[in-house]
Amino acid sequence: MTQDEAKALVGQRAAAMVEDGMAVGLGTGTTSVMFIKALGERVRAGLQIRCVASSEASAALATSLGITVMSLAELPALDLYIDGADEIGPGLALIKGGGGALLREKIVASAAKQFVVVADTTKEVAVLGRFPLPVEVIKMALPLVEHKLTDLGLQPKLRVRADGSAYLTDEQNYILDCGCSRIENPEETAAEIRNIVGVVEHGLFLGMASVALIAGEGGVVERFE
Ligand code: A5P
Repeated sequence: MTQDEAKALVGQRAAAMVEDGMAVGLGTGTTSVMFIKALGERVRAGLQIRCVASSEASAALATSLGITVMSLAELPALDLYIDGADEIGPGLALIKGGGGALLREKIVASAAKQFVVVADTTKEVAVLGRFPLPVEVIKMALPLVEHKLTDLGLQPKLRVRADGSAYLTDEQNYILDCGCSRIENPEETAAEIRNIVGVVEHGLFLGMASVALIAGEGGVVERFE
């Protein structure tokens, strides 16, 4: 099975969890795209749901598929949030934000009763940190935050677009991708980063996901906290 096939499989499985009448949070990234497409098929077949999206890109895709997308102000309580991850560690600790949407993802996830992670087996790790940890930063604070992250032993690198200009999030902030190698104590690292003035959010999602659907050669396996 290719990685794309695994993403499609897990996207379909997640879409099958959605029930009539639910308020659903839509994640961001390539696995979430598969989920949103599968959900679009169910909506076309008559499923009645309302959604909140974690990015402009996911909102545009969902809307194009006939899915009702509302703001968090209109739909503040969600039954389910479904999203991918860059790394899934022990206890379903996650690194997210490879797609740049970590802030809105964390906000929408926090509004949901249940957060279901969708991924393929390549995302599972014994220790978080191989994937550079994204940190969203207020523009003005960039030099200060960069310095403080370096003091923490991280290697922050400004995310840039293909044309060399700085990447901007949907909230018009910068992202510093922080090389870490191994995050031995995610709670401690999260607290240290959160403590830096000018940091808007970081990509450690701890204690948020309750189940992960992971697709591999044997099909989809469920992993719990
Ligand atoms: C988006 O900002 C991210 O958090 C994604 O959910 C994460 O990067 C996983 O993306 P893929 O499904 O594309 O691997």
